[in-house]
Formats: sequence, C-alpha cells, structure tokens
Amino acid sequence: MAQQNLLLLPGDGIGTEIMAEVEKLIAHLNAKGLADVAFDTGLVGGSAYDAHGVAISEEDMQKALSADAVIFGAVGGPKWDNVPYELRPEAGLLRLRKDLGLFANLRPAICYPALADGSSLKREIVEGLDILIVRELTGGVYFGEPKEIHDLGNGQKRAIDTQVYETYEIERIARVAFDMARTRDNRVSSSEKRNVMKSGVLWHEVVSALHESEYADVQLDHILADNCAMQLVRNPKQFDVIVTDNLFGDILSDAAAMLTGSLGMLPSASLGAPDAGTGKRKALYEPVHGSAPDIAGQGMANPIAMIASFAMALRYSFEMVELADKVEAAIAAVLDEGYRTGDIMQDGCKKVSTAEMGDAIIAKL
Ligand code: IPM
Ligand code: MN
Repeated sequence: MAQQNLLLLPGDGIGTEIMAEVEKLIAHLNAKGLADVAFDTGLVGGSAYDAHGVAISEEDMQKALSADAVIFGAVGGPKWDNVPYELRPEAGLLRLRKDLGLFANLRPAICYPALADGSSLKREIVEGLDILIVRELTGGVYFGEPKEIHDLGNGQKRAIDTQVYETYEIERIARVAFDMARTRDNRVSSSEKRNVMKSGVLWHEVVSALHESEYADVQLDHILADNCAMQLVRNPKQFDVIVTDNLFGDILSDAAAMLTGSLGMLPSASLGAPDAGTGKRKALYEPVHGSAPDIAGQGMANPIAMIASFAMALRYSFEMVELADKVEAAIAAVLDEGYRTGDIMQDGCKKVSTAEMGDAIIAKL
C-alpha cells in the first residue's frame, strides 16, 4: 500500500475540534492496516496570524505544495475582525486555492434519509436529494483585478471588484462538470447571469460550445443564477450537476447545504489540473461550513462534514474508493441509529459531543 502524505490545517474556531476526529480516524485506519497515511500539521487563518503575522506562513505553503493532499478545517472569527484586509484569516484559504491551482470545487449535497426531517424544507422536497455543485474556485470576482477602494476626495469612496473569466477557465471547469455528470445522472445545469453580465455571456457560449463538440451525450440546461437559487429551494431534486462561477457557487452551495439538514453535513473537494507526468491532481478537502466561533471550544460541533471531507480525499486523491464508501456508510449508519450533534438534534435522538460522534463513526467502521 502506497503511503499517503497529508497536511492537516485545522485553522480556527471549531476547526481544531473537528480535525481531531479526522486524526482519530487516520490512527484507526493505520492501526487496522486499512490505509497508510502519514500527516503533518500547519497553521492557517487567525491562528497563523497570531503565530506568524500572516494568514499562512511560507513554510506551511511549501508543505501544502508538496503534500499528496491538504485537509482543511475552517478559518476566521471575530477575534480577527480588525486585522488588515490582506492578512485576514480568509486570505490564507484563498492563497492555498490560488497557489495550488485548485480551480474545481466539488460540493455534493446529499440528504441522508435519517436527516430528511431536519431540513427546514418539507421531507418530500429533500428526501433522496443527491446533487453536485461544481464551483469554479480560482477566478471570477474573488481574484479579479482591480480590487480596491478609492477615496474620491469629496467625502465619497468608490469600491471596485472585478468579475473576470477567460475562455480556458470556463472550459476546464465545464469539463469537470460534464465528466462528473457522466458518472451520475448525466445532466448538467450551467448557471450564470448572462442577462446582465458579459462574463455570463461568455460562460454560456463556452459551455455550449464544449457541450456540442465533446459532451453532446450529456443533457445540458442553462439557468440564470437567481432562478437557480429559487429552484434549489422549490424543487432541488430536479438538478444533478450544477456548474457555476466562484461567487454564485459560494452562494448556491450554502443554500444547497441547508437542504440537507445542516451546514454541518457538507464536505467539499477542491482539485487542480492533473499533473502532466503523474496524472495526480493537487487537492484540498474542507467542510463547506465555517469556523462557528459561537460554539468553538465546547466540544459540540458536528464533525461529519470534516470526516466526509476526509472520505472525499480517500476517493479522489488516494483512489481508495471502497474505503471512502465505507466511511460514508458509517456516517449514514450512525445517523440511522440516532446519534446527533446539537445542530441536527431531533426528538427521540441521542445528543452527542464532537468526540462521541467521531467515536461512533469509527466504531461503525
Ligand atoms: C467557502 C467560504 C469561503 C469562500 C470564505 C471563507 C473565503 O465561504 O469556502 O464557501 O467564500 O469561498
Ligand atoms: Mn461559502
């Protein structure tokens, strides 16, 4: 069995508590001979700022670049509200995405049967939901230049963010979406705002052309992003794969997350292009939720999105698909048995701590 080298970046807030459950899981898999995972840890976000004065140190960036995969917790919190914009906790995550070239963000939203009543939507709307949001992650308004605030000198300021996409960026993310669709229900919905944005016009054009030339077997629809948001809460099961830009993907994936019962349930994978020599992709795995400073340090955070993110690493970086299936099945099984952290608590269920949830999943495995 090939040894896999992971970098764990727990980050801030609940990040450290939920990452501890991944460490326990790794120790278990190693001890049972089911995997051979070596890991190093680093600092990112506010914790890196406190230690090094930056959102991620050069040394930890180097570790991230040389690891087989990075497992990331969460960053941010009110403690760092007043640090300079370039040094804010989120800058560490954005640098990792950019410097590792992680342009493809996969955000699956699966509604576990046991949680269908936990969603704020009716059971019949979400039960059996299985959609995948493919979010472009290294372009668009997150990184476009200029990005600045000018003083106009008359008591007014002007703030500018730039939404910019080039053909190749749209084409490569659309390719990921079409390829993923072929392994699922073979349907892609491409979402943009071509009715008001030039980047949306180009997005529509490039996705359509790629579809016609290489993916005519996949069913393609185009949907305006605002309508997509509405359809996600009206009838989410109409979707299979949604491909969209960085900002719309951020927003639509939070909405999709809530369909599944709790933001604490959703993992994600951020992948780069396959290496020309080895075929391996750089990769970072992280829960979709944030650092939840309000509940940090109390041992009550839900570790499932974090553990499911590790399962995505097994699947996409280590090609250990069977083991990934087993981890995901163990999560479903403990939910069936009624184990619940506070965020997904329901009548008649067993309320457990972060560590108890991690232990239950390992015991199921
Ligand atoms: C996410 C987060 C990040 C984003 C923040 C923390 C910068 O909300 O991963 O969805 O906006 O991309
Ligand atoms: Mn987000």
